[in-house]
Amino acid sequence: MAANILMFCQGTPVASLTVRQLDDKLKKLLRLRAARHGRSMEDEVRTILKAAAEDTSRDILEGFEPRAQSAQQRSPAAEAGGPRILLIIGGGIAAYKSLDLIRRLQDRGTNLRCVLTQAAQHFVTPLAVGALAGERAYTDLFDPQSEFDVGHIRLARDADLIVVAPATADLIAKMAGGHADDLATAVLLATDKPVLIAPAMNPQMWAAKATQRNLAQLAADGIHRVGPNAGAMAERGEAGLGRMAEPLEIVVAVEALLQSAGALSGRRVLVTSGPTSEPIDPVRFIANRSSGKQGHAIAAAAAAAGADVVLVSGPVAVPDPAGVTVVKVETARQMLDAVDKALPVDIAIFAAAVADWRAAEPSAIKIKKQNGRTPTLKLIENPDILSTIAHRKYGRPRLVIGFAAETDHVIANAKIKLAKKGCDWILANDVSPATGIMGGDSNTIHLITPTAVESWPPQSKDDVARTLIERIAAELEGDKR
Ligand SMILES: Cc1cc2nc3c(=O)[nH]c(=O)nc-3n(C[C@H](O)[C@H](O)[C@H](O)COP(=O)(O)O)c2cc1C
Repeated sequence: MAANILMFCQGTPVASLTVRQLDDKLKKLLRLRAARHGRSMEDEVRTILKAAAEDTSRDILEGFEPRAQSAQQRSPAAEAGGPRILLIIGGGIAAYKSLDLIRRLQDRGTNLRCVLTQAAQHFVTPLAVGALAGERAYTDLFDPQSEFDVGHIRLARDADLIVVAPATADLIAKMAGGHADDLATAVLLATDKPVLIAPAMNPQMWAAKATQRNLAQLAADGIHRVGPNAGAMAERGEAGLGRMAEPLEIVVAVEALLQSAGALSGRRVLVTSGPTSEPIDPVRFIANRSSGKQGHAIAAAAAAAGADVVLVSGPVAVPDPAGVTVVKVETARQMLDAVDKALPVDIAIFAAAVADWRAAEPSAIKIKKQNGRTPTLKLIENPDILSTIAHRKYGRPRLVIGFAAETDHVIANAKIKLAKKGCDWILANDVSPATGIMGGDSNTIHLITPTAVESWPPQSKDDVARTLIERIAAELEGDKR
């Protein structure tokens, strides 16, 4: 075993130490110690060295305070190696609720570390946060103690999930802009882990164009969000949208993210999304009202669950999801071609609203008015992408999932579609204009399988995507049994 230890002084590495030729018994003891303390072996060696150095060289180490709480003082759940969460507390009035959030996360066995922004310390103290979390709270990017102990990069990486609660307008803006001028933002920029924000601010700040622009950017960057809720603000007399989600709601969102993280790792997923656009002439085309929101949300959720995702998208205004390979197409035939090129995949989800017909003979030049005569538009049928892939004898994905956008007899029509197309599941939704589903942000889904119909409650398209990914992961897990 070789343990590489980088030593830091004021944030600059000054020494790298490699320990070689440890005998098997010592390796085993180290491994056991590290497991018991919930640390990596490298961290364990570092801790032992630090304690030994402090014992013998207190004068040299003057200025480095020992960690406020040893591993033995951590909660039994944390010791047992529960999920690791880094909670970043921003400077908003709702910071007081973060103290409750800490307790509730700990009740669920999480291993918690906390960072407070400078502004947050006006609302809650690092002492209170540290006492509740069982480990001192981190506050300063340039603190030699923190850099020696963990460092901002390690804080960013040694977590399964980062939660920002409250996420102030300021933190949201800094995240969207890629700032890193304090510990919280440096950690957020340096992380490769999922991030969940719980915004909290005055309704005017929430509605501000700049805040909404920044939130759209964060959504495009794959940042997850819970809340805000509407209701009374902490400031007396203020009410509206901007109240931080309640601690229990945040815990539910955390659990959902932790559950889905890695659920599809090692799987390849294909998603189609958006409308297709079929040319009539160089300026006119046949299209439909699909926004791509649902398909893009599914691609994002599959990527968040660790899948290798290819998204084949028709023309849409929604941004590309983070961490996904996006292939942009216009027509149904281009979409089928791109789907073919993306195969083989484990799971194919056909959420695109593919035009059933295209102009038989699109004109190469703009069709002009013909002295009152109405031109005849001859249509021919487009290839049926879902049916083509579902009926493949060779290289058929393990799960082929289609969407049925219906305006009447939703479940009955979807059942017929399932049988006709030969797919495994159909997600049926009612796209009558009154439902607002086409182009809207929420969806009501009936999952039709050959043996059952599951009606999901109305929920956001992001939540539909997460629910679908959980269902897929459970189905694939069943294969192993
Ligand atoms: C009493 C008080 C309450 C505040 N509450 C909020 C809030 O709820 N949400 C918010 O975005 N900003 C709030 N602010 C403004 C932030 O504290 C300020 O923008 C600060 O720079 C945020 O820093 P941070 O994002 O680094 O934590 C409040 C300020 C004061 C003085």
